[in-house]
Amino acid sequence: MISTGIVTVSYIAATILFILALGGLSNQETARRGNWYGITGMSIALIATVLGVVTDNYVWLVTALLIGGSIGLILARRVQMTEMPELVAILHSLVGLAAVMVGFANFMDSGVHFEGVELTIHDIETYLGILIGAVTFSGSVIAFGKLSGKIGGKPMLLPARHWLNLGLLLAAIWFGRDFVIQSAAGEGLTPLLIMTAVALVFGIHMVMAIGGADMPVVVSMLNSYSGWAASATGFMLNNDLLIVTGALVGSSGAILSYIMCRAMNRKFLAVIAGGFGTGGGSTAKGGEDQGEVVPISAEETADLLATAKEVMIIPGYGMAVAQAQHIVYEITTGLRNKGVNVRFGIHPVAGRMPGHMNVLLAEAKVPYDIVFEMDEINEDFPDIDVSVIIGANDIVNPSALDEPDSPIAGMPVLECWKGKTTIVLKRSMATGYAGVQNPLFFKENTRMLFGDAKDSLDAVFKTL
Ligand code: TAP
Repeated sequence: MISTGIVTVSYIAATILFILALGGLSNQETARRGNWYGITGMSIALIATVLGVVTDNYVWLVTALLIGGSIGLILARRVQMTEMPELVAILHSLVGLAAVMVGFANFMDSGVHFEGVELTIHDIETYLGILIGAVTFSGSVIAFGKLSGKIGGKPMLLPARHWLNLGLLLAAIWFGRDFVIQSAAGEGLTPLLIMTAVALVFGIHMVMAIGGADMPVVVSMLNSYSGWAASATGFMLNNDLLIVTGALVGSSGAILSYIMCRAMNRKFLAVIAGGFGTGGGSTAKGGEDQGEVVPISAEETADLLATAKEVMIIPGYGMAVAQAQHIVYEITTGLRNKGVNVRFGIHPVAGRMPGHMNVLLAEAKVPYDIVFEMDEINEDFPDIDVSVIIGANDIVNPSALDEPDSPIAGMPVLECWKGKTTIVLKRSMATGYAGVQNPLFFKENTRMLFGDAKDSLDAVFKTL
């Protein structure tokens, strides 16, 4: 056992380390250091809690830690880079589930005694913790299903769904009042259970109503909810570190949701209300014949690249699937040695999670100073000789700008078609995540290099 003073100091140190971690993670060059701050902070927090706060049941604790830790380790080792978003979603669901369980355990714990106003406050903390936890849990499970393709991307739009949501919200408030009143008389389990069911239905309904194209916002939103659930649990357990850490996760998730919304030109409330992004592939011009596509060979691609002065590489989800980042690096280095100015244009929602492309490019050691965000380079396309689209689709779809009916209408995209030549690497004419056909493929200055992105780029590299 260590003293409360040491626990408090350790918690403050952990808090500072978490803040430093968030600061570090905001920049590629400092991200690795940020990660270490986070790991150190979490280790300190765990040790201080185990040695200073827990007083009993060590066997249970260590057994649970070992089981949970091993499952986490195995999962994290096995998971493919392309499955990361699903993993993140399912991990959020566990945070929600933990908040629900801790809430119930705390409520039933006969050792917890409060009176008067304190009891009311504690009850509200418990109620809110379970409420947010249950919404996070069921919402994240559905998000996991949608991201892994087990549930279709099409939004489920029940008639009068806004009324249903309003009804669920009112029910949650009503049973909250009931719970606080009953709890003063030593009861309250029934309203608590009913609210949990209501919150679970709400979480499912909320995420089911959101279309494929808006999933990035949902993932960051659930991230934020999981933080608030943890924070509410912190209040319930009177644990300062959990309150602060939860608030950090909650607010950074909220900021990320805001950034995502801005990147996709969506209003946050409209996303939550659902209905965007059909994911069904049957939109305005989607089904119509848009003309012929012109294929290109790897050799011709290599020639075009070698004779270009300005090259823009636009990676997307397909680069992650093909694991083509290393060969992209080789080609980039080769071209740069020949005096070609190669740059990367990164769309904020490229891939399946925030920063997905940046992580892959950093892994392949592509220099940071040639990787640009969309806003920084979107004006430069008229001067680009060759744009190479590696397994990207929705983020270079011109219909986002000129088809108001499209599920991705209004989302800013990388306007590569304004350059001289665009080469698109993909395996087929299949649509991307949002399920909409892409008029870019049919443009006069577009060439299609069909095949797995890694195989195609290997062939290009050989010729180069
Ligand atoms: P997508 O629009 O999903 O397009 C990816 C393309 O890659 C597909 O058209 C696919 O075509 C191709 N592809 C797949 N495997 C390939 C391989 N091995 N080799 C070559 N090509 C391959 O991806 P994007 O352009 O990156 O856009 C991201 C989409 O995901 C957006 O709609 C976004 O809203 C959504 N989303 C993003 C996030 C975040 S946070 N980034 C989260 C959830 C959803 P083929 O099948 O023909 O090869």
